[in-house]
Amino acid sequence: MTPPRPVIETARLRLRPFRDADLAELVRLINDWQVARWVSNVPHPYTEDDGRAWIALVQEDHATGRPQRFAIALKDSGQLIGGVGLDGDRGGDTDEAALGYWLGQPYWRRGYAREAVAALLDYAFRKLGLTTVRAYTDPANSDSQKVLLSCGFAYVGDIDLAKPNRNGAHRAPLFRITAPGASAGAC
Ligand SMILES: CC(C)(COP(=O)(O)OP(=O)(O)OC[C@H]1O[C@@H](n2cnc3c(N)ncnc32)[C@H](O)[C@@H]1OP(=O)(O)O)[C@@H](O)C(=O)NCCC(=O)NCCS
Repeated sequence: MTPPRPVIETARLRLRPFRDADLAELVRLINDWQVARWVSNVPHPYTEDDGRAWIALVQEDHATGRPQRFAIALKDSGQLIGGVGLDGDRGGDTDEAALGYWLGQPYWRRGYAREAVAALLDYAFRKLGLTTVRAYTDPANSDSQKVLLSCGFAYVGDIDLAKPNRNGAHRAPLFRITAPGASAGAC
């Protein structure tokens, strides 16, 4: 039997798998230095082949019934605006799930990242049963740090990066959130 494929809905957003039809918009939104400069694990320049491979990977992830990677779309129009997942760069040797996210530039500063991250965390804790999630950002990525802090992450110290990121940083601030009711020592 095919496992159910979770779709996460918020007031304004739908977190869903990437579809083949998203390819052109995915490439248009993510092949942008102002996005790529902050997400060193996303190829840049970003080609259609990169997009096809990513869409296929996310579709395989959703076929498991316990996906960790989602497209972010506007609920009203269906417009693809970005991506969010628990497959971010962990920044070190750990099994702790790492949050990653990006939005296309036209969709910044409308509160969409906070809305998507809050919904993904709720899914991670209540549906996937995770007890902690980590995230790290470029030291200069204050927009992303604001997203994390406003979603309940706490700064827990700086980490050494295995290799310098796209902006040449060797160290980065690490943030962590613990599931409601879980012991902070669980990680
Ligand atoms: C980091 C990033 C995801 C932030 O996206 P975002 O949607 O602008 O972030 P938020 O959800 O926090 O939006 C908050 C902003 O929207 C404004 N806003 C407007 N309407 C809002 C609403 N209804 N609710 C909340 N905030 C709203 C807020 O005032 C705030 O602006 P401010 O920071 O100037 O005060 C985005 O800039 C991005 O994709 N950057 C490139 C990739 C990246 O950095 N990824 C993270 C790597 S660690």
